[in-house]
Amino acid sequence: MGAITPWPRILFLIFIALSAFYFHQSSADGIEADQPVALYVNASETSAKKIPNTLFGIFFEEINHAGAGGLWAELVSNRGFEAGGPNVPSNIDPWSFIGNESSVIVSTDRSSCFERNKIALRMEVLCGEGSKACPAGGVGIYNPGFWGMNIEQGKAYKLVFYVRSSRPINLSVSLTGSTGLQTLATTSIVASDVSNWTKMEATLQAKGSDAKARLQLTTTRKGVIWFDQVSLMPTDTYKGRGFRNDLFAMLKDLKPGFMRFPGGCFVEGDWLRNAFRWKETIGPWEERPGHFGDVWHYWTDDGLGHFEFLQLAEDLGTAPIWVFNNGVSHNDEVETSSIFPFIQEILDGLEFARGDAHSKWGSVRAALGHPEPFDLKYVAVGNEDCGKKYYLGSYLRFYDAIKRAYPDIKIISNCDGSSKPLDHPADFYDYHIYSSASSVFGTAQKFDKAPRSGPKAFVSEYAVTGDDAGKGSLIAAIAEAGFLIGLEKNCDAVEMASYAPLFVNTNDRTWDPDAIVFDSSKVYGTPSYWMQHFFRESNGATLLDSSLRSNPANSLIASAITWKDADSRKHLRIKVVNFGSNNVTLQISVDGLEVNSLQSSGSTKVVLTSGNPKDENSFQTPNKIVPIKSQLDEVGEEMDVVVSPHSLTSIDLLINSYSIRTVGSNSVDVSSY
Ligand code: AHR
Repeated sequence: MGAITPWPRILFLIFIALSAFYFHQSSADGIEADQPVALYVNASETSAKKIPNTLFGIFFEEINHAGAGGLWAELVSNRGFEAGGPNVPSNIDPWSFIGNESSVIVSTDRSSCFERNKIALRMEVLCGEGSKACPAGGVGIYNPGFWGMNIEQGKAYKLVFYVRSSRPINLSVSLTGSTGLQTLATTSIVASDVSNWTKMEATLQAKGSDAKARLQLTTTRKGVIWFDQVSLMPTDTYKGRGFRNDLFAMLKDLKPGFMRFPGGCFVEGDWLRNAFRWKETIGPWEERPGHFGDVWHYWTDDGLGHFEFLQLAEDLGTAPIWVFNNGVSHNDEVETSSIFPFIQEILDGLEFARGDAHSKWGSVRAALGHPEPFDLKYVAVGNEDCGKKYYLGSYLRFYDAIKRAYPDIKIISNCDGSSKPLDHPADFYDYHIYSSASSVFGTAQKFDKAPRSGPKAFVSEYAVTGDDAGKGSLIAAIAEAGFLIGLEKNCDAVEMASYAPLFVNTNDRTWDPDAIVFDSSKVYGTPSYWMQHFFRESNGATLLDSSLRSNPANSLIASAITWKDADSRKHLRIKVVNFGSNNVTLQISVDGLEVNSLQSSGSTKVVLTSGNPKDENSFQTPNKIVPIKSQLDEVGEEMDVVVSPHSLTSIDLLINSYSIRTVGSNSVDVSSY
């Protein structure tokens, strides 16, 4: 008998090994492949809770060039030449010059007509008239914007700058490609007398496109010219307010219930001298001093200032939440005994936002074009400062002064009241979480035991960070969705939640991951951005009682809400996160609805998932991980839905004629929930 070939046996052993590996993986998730898990939803009104209108919102921080070089559409970077500091000569970066040292000398001096930002650019042209001729095209200066200006053919750009010279000027102002060789738009500025600082304006019509264009100011005429406050704005910003349209649309699409601003660490500063001070950010843009945000390491001209933030919230139709500096930075603090000027500063800021148009600061707002008060009802006293030496003492002073002047304003403490009650008065306590995917997912139950009386939670910053998250992975979004479902189920203890950070200009990735990624011309949402879309309808909706059965390793979490669309149609939305790596058949039982009130037509399933938990979106594949909607055919009070591994699924069931059975009665309309 010949020797038996070993191959069948080897293949059999490989099969056993692979099966064991697969089994081990499945066991680790706690759910076998296609294991059924039951979800019970009680749609009766007896156990329903009203979800706050504000539960899911956004947090805008000036980080990663979110505002300067981002949402704020100003195309010139360092428009007032102040970024190099108050001493001269100073660094004019990213400005540069056209020509060479024998034809032009560019420096700075302190001759600006603007009192709060004295630096101006001095350009001495050595060529032309009686000396050697200037090169064709002239000599001058250019600004590349924030890693390139997005100039689009057919669009108009408004240029404003201030100029001074003892001689008549003849300037060419042009938008060119990144090398300066291709002209996209050009015009001349000719003036016979600019011996005093003179404001110049021009509209440049683009005849070509380049996402990395630059602005040039050149001349062929000898002499000394000073420039200051050079601004170039697209004319098609949102309602002409200065917000970049595509980025604004990304925010609007989230239907945010609130907008926290202008930042976290940005508000504190590494040092108080570099903190955001609202009074320095209002009024004519030319007069704003701008400041160096020393935590995130860049200069901002503060075009996006206190007024613009309030306007942004109003335009988004959302509730502004102002985080103010409370006399505390990362490295220095004001003693409580000296805190009064800081309190007055905040009271002034509140009057600016809410005061009557005849009040001192309300009149300033009115003069800026907004006579009606802004709807500012929430403030946060500092950011992540609980435990700092003077935090509590100063907090109490802020609290008393604000409540005395504005009893309806809700005040947010930096101290965490989720485990034990706060030892000071507050309307909300702030809670931040940045951690691994499993840790964030595992924190979904955090608020199950949080106090139901007293201040509610404001989870103002949450995100999966580190290796799990990369620059914005699927698994990060899935874990965050699980966490948000936990918050939704605890909507009687949690009032508000926002992801952080919101934006990143891909050229300044100081903080990863972020919800929205952009450059000068393009934008995409990370999976965490799209994840938030699943919660848009939750604000003001009704939370139903729901529970999962046979969910051994807790790798699933689910919630159920009812909500009404713009046409007053009523929907039951079941959201489920599968954090594990196997398919799960979700066996849904809905109790408490009239028989046959769930309708197949118009009922859908929306899924956020991808082949690999570490998958990310990018400029090359911006839609790799986006919600995918499909029709649900088999709809009923008892139904099975297969839920993919590492997924967030929304099952949206249209309710026929919505009526909910109550104990002891036939039906009750919940339209008033
Ligand atoms: O979101 C980024 C930073 O994280 C915020 O500025 C700060 O509040 C937190 O530490």
